[in-house]
Amino acid sequence: MFSKEDINLDALPKHIAVIMDGNGRWAKMKGKIRTFGHENGVKAVRDTVEAAAELGVSYLTLYAFSTENWNRPKYEINALMTLLVSTISKETKTLMDNNIRLESIGDMSALPKKCMKELLEAKAKTAGNTRMTLVLALSYSSRWEIKEAMQKIAIQVKSGELQPENINEATIAENLNTAGMPDPELLIRTSGEHRISNFLLWQISYAELYFTDKLWPDFRREDLYEAIVSYQRRERRFGKTSEQLSA
Ligand code: FPP
Repeated sequence: MFSKEDINLDALPKHIAVIMDGNGRWAKMKGKIRTFGHENGVKAVRDTVEAAAELGVSYLTLYAFSTENWNRPKYEINALMTLLVSTISKETKTLMDNNIRLESIGDMSALPKKCMKELLEAKAKTAGNTRMTLVLALSYSSRWEIKEAMQKIAIQVKSGELQPENINEATIAENLNTAGMPDPELLIRTSGEHRISNFLLWQISYAELYFTDKLWPDFRREDLYEAIVSYQRRERRFGKTSEQLSA
């Protein structure tokens, strides 16, 4: 089992992104309905957020609801939205007490009104917090985000504000939902699946990927520590050679 002492606090990833997966399987293994898994996933969210903030991670992004999740059975979508609303409103005080700012990425207009209202209120209330930014990806998919960015850029080109030859990587990054955030350096996915599932495709270009068999409701701070230790043991070369890095 890993502890905080195993981590080099001077070499923390600034931004950690998490694909929280396995809630449904966790519930099924216990003979319960899928929503029981989501409810228990909240404990893992709380522990992970607290541990990341304590360590000094600057950004934590959680994939809470994908664009594709709208295709799930209606009862599950309703339960997830209700859970999101109640968790956001219940946890706003904890976010304030811990100096954590809440942000979101995704198509907010697709969310039920109540969910959007709670989210906007919590974002406004926590806007001045500085210790860590917790980003919820809600009704999010990377291809949707890239399409939106392309449309915004096309509008700027059409109006003459931007010349096509001046479009560079920064132009694209600035038009994504994550504008202003550092790219994730570590991406964690639980539940033994080795997929990216339309999550932050542009932003994870150089992220280290970490997969664990743990199902999300069982994920705890020690699992986050283990992921960070694994990240810190890797050599990040960014296309260079090992020799160039040590020179
Ligand atoms: C994936 O498991 C999980 C989700 C789609 C939802 C995650 C939501 C929570 C943990 C609830 C609260 C979150 C916040 C941030 C307040 P799955 O249903 O795909 O599991 P399966 O792959 O086993 O079916």
